[in-house]
Amino acid sequence: MFALPLAENAELRPLEPWQAAEFAAHADRVRSDIARYIPWAGFVVDEPSARGFLQTYADRAAADTGRLYGIWVDGVLEGGTVFRVFDPAMGVCEIGVWLSSAARGRGLVTTAARHMAAWAFGPRGMHRVEWRCDPRNAPSVAVAKRLGMTLEGTLRESFLLDGERRDEQIWALLASEWNAA
Ligand SMILES: CC(C)(COP(=O)(O)OP(=O)(O)OC[C@H]1O[C@@H](n2cnc3c(N)ncnc32)[C@H](O)[C@@H]1OP(=O)(O)O)[C@@H](O)C(=O)NCCC(=O)NCCS
Repeated sequence: MFALPLAENAELRPLEPWQAAEFAAHADRVRSDIARYIPWAGFVVDEPSARGFLQTYADRAAADTGRLYGIWVDGVLEGGTVFRVFDPAMGVCEIGVWLSSAARGRGLVTTAARHMAAWAFGPRGMHRVEWRCDPRNAPSVAVAKRLGMTLEGTLRESFLLDGERRDEQIWALLASEWNAA
């Protein structure tokens, strides 16, 4: 099992179906912190639904179309990252993230996303890494900026969550920009 250090006592590791009980407990703990922006917070509600969600990503990892990682702080699952889109043929992927309120403010997600971008642009030869967020989500916008991404546009009322049609910003980083930085 590999683990990438993010900060003192914090690491990024794969999060897999065998960890369903831990993920279900985490979902219960962080639901109110993340539900405004993270759809799975609404349907990962017990161990079977947690296993189903993790299995979807395990299947997508096997097919090379998506991946999921957890962020542990002092051995406690406190957040995670996903390649929500992963399309090697097109050279395009999209990173998504979440953190418990307690784990925020330490740069954990920015560092984790940098690891993911390094892997995507390096060994995986991706051309473009995307980030999509609600324009009202200031902490998420701040991560995209810290990653050096460019705001390319806003898809108006394109994202449906909890019955609300929301705008979605698209930020992206190109391989040439990553390599130059
Ligand atoms: C989006 C989200 C993960 C951002 O969390 P975050 O902790 O602000 O982001 P990071 O982990 O990158 O930390 C950045 C913060 O740590 C600080 N920081 C400390 N050390 C740092 C370091 N070494 N590197 C970068 N930032 C550092 C930054 O200044 C920043 O703090 P600030 O916002 O007070 O300026 C979090 O708000 C969240 O989970 N929201 C709900 C779910 C969500 O919206 N997900 C995204 C959907 S698009």
